[in-house]
Amino acid sequence: MSAEVEQPQIPIVKKKPNCFVGFANLPNQVHRKSIKKGFQFTLMVVGESGLGKSTLINTLFNTSVYPNKDHNAEEPPKTIQIETITTNLEENGIKLKLNVIDTPGFGDFVNNESSWKPILDDIEARFDSYLEQENKVNRKKIVDERVHACLYFIAPTGHSLKPLDIEFMKRLHHRVNLIPVIAKSDLLTEEEIVGFKARIMEDISYNKIQIYRPPIYENDDPETLQENKEIVLRMPFAVVGCDKEIDAGNKKIRGRQYPWGIIDVDNEDHCDFIKLRQMLIRTHMEELREYTNEVLYENYRSNKLIASGNEFGDGGNPLTRFEEEKKAHEAKMTKMEAEMKMVFQQKVQEKKNKLMQSDADLHARHKEMKEKLINQRRELEETKRQLESGARPGTPEKSRKGKGYFK
Ligand code: GTP
Repeated sequence: MSAEVEQPQIPIVKKKPNCFVGFANLPNQVHRKSIKKGFQFTLMVVGESGLGKSTLINTLFNTSVYPNKDHNAEEPPKTIQIETITTNLEENGIKLKLNVIDTPGFGDFVNNESSWKPILDDIEARFDSYLEQENKVNRKKIVDERVHACLYFIAPTGHSLKPLDIEFMKRLHHRVNLIPVIAKSDLLTEEEIVGFKARIMEDISYNKIQIYRPPIYENDDPETLQENKEIVLRMPFAVVGCDKEIDAGNKKIRGRQYPWGIIDVDNEDHCDFIKLRQMLIRTHMEELREYTNEVLYENYRSNKLIASGNEFGDGGNPLTRFEEEKKAHEAKMTKMEAEMKMVFQQKVQEKKNKLMQSDADLHARHKEMKEKLINQRRELEETKRQLESGARPGTPEKSRKGKGYFK
C-alpha cells in the first residue's frame, strides 16, 4: 500500500514594488554579458559533391566562408573526410564564431552504404569530448564543438528521397538538428518543387525521421506564431545559392541569370533561401543551440552513463557502484591484514624456536664443561695424594711396593 504524501502548497503572492528597484534591467545585464562573450555556432553540411553546399554557406553569411575552390585541381576524396572551417564574423558589434563542418566524399562512391557512419562517429566524438570536459575538476574552459545543426542537401531529382538520403537521416536524426534542403532548386519548375516537397515530407514521416521544426507555442505573440507557421510550411526549403551579384535592370542582385529570366536568391517568391536564413540565423539559432544542449546531448549523455553503469551490473547507479567498490576495497584490506598477521606469527615462532635451541645448546655446553672440570679436579686430587705419599705421580700403588722403593 502506498500512501501519497501531500506536499504543502507554498502560496505565491504577486506583488509590485512601490518604486523601480531594478530587476527589470536583468535582460539588459544578460544582453551585455552575451555581447561581451560573443556567440558560437557549429553548422554541418552534408550532401553529394557539386550540390552547391559551399555556395549556399557563402550566400547565407554573405561572405566567403569557404575559400575559392579549384575543382579541377582537387583529387576526389577516397574516403569521407571531415573538415572544419572556422570564421569569426561581426555584425553591429555582435561577434559570431562560425564553425562549418564539411563532409567531402559523402555519397560520391560506388558503394555508399555506410557513408553515414564517419559522420555519426564525428558528431558523437564531439559529444564525448564535451562530456569528458564536463566531468573534469576544472570546468572553467570547456571547448564546445558540438554540432548545432546539419544542413542535408537533397539532389534536385524531382522524384522522392533516395535510399541514401533516408538511411542518413534515420541514422542521424536523434543526434543532430536535421534541416533538409532541396539543392539547386532553380533546376526544377514551380510545380515540380511542390510535388517533390510533398513526396519528401511523406518519406520523412513514413520513415519516422525527426527533422528540426521551429516550435509552435500558442502563447507566442501573433507575429512570431505566424512567422514560425510560414517557416514550417516551406519545409524542406528549396534553395538557390549564389555569392555573386548580377545586373537586374537598374539594381544589382544576388541571383542566377537564365535565357528565360533571373532567379533572385533574396526574393521569397523565387525560392526559400530567405526562410532558411531567417530560421537558421535570425530567429532560431539560439533555439537550435539550446535543443542540442538540452535534448540531443542530454539524451546521449544519460544513455552513455547508463550504459557504462550497466558494465558494473548495478543498473547504472553511481552510488551503488561506489558502495560496491568500497566493499571490495575493505575485503581486500581485511585479507591483507590477516596475511600480515599470519606472517608475523610465523616469524615470532621461528625466533622462539631459535632461542630455545640456543638455550638448550648453552645448557649442554655448561654441563659438559662442568663434568670436564670435575674430572680435572679429581685427577689433580689424585696427583696431590700421590705426591704426598711419595710415589711418583702416575705410578700404580702395587708396582711401587714390589720394586722396593719404599721401606
Ligand atoms: P563540393 O565541394 O564538390 O562538395 O561542391 P559543393 O557542394 O560545395 O558545390 P559548390 O558550391 O562548389 O557548387 C558547385 C557548382 O554549382 C558551382 O559551379 C556553383 O556555381 C553551382 N551552384 C551552386 N549553387 C547553385 C544553385 O543553387 N543553382 C545552380 N544552378 N547552380 C549552383
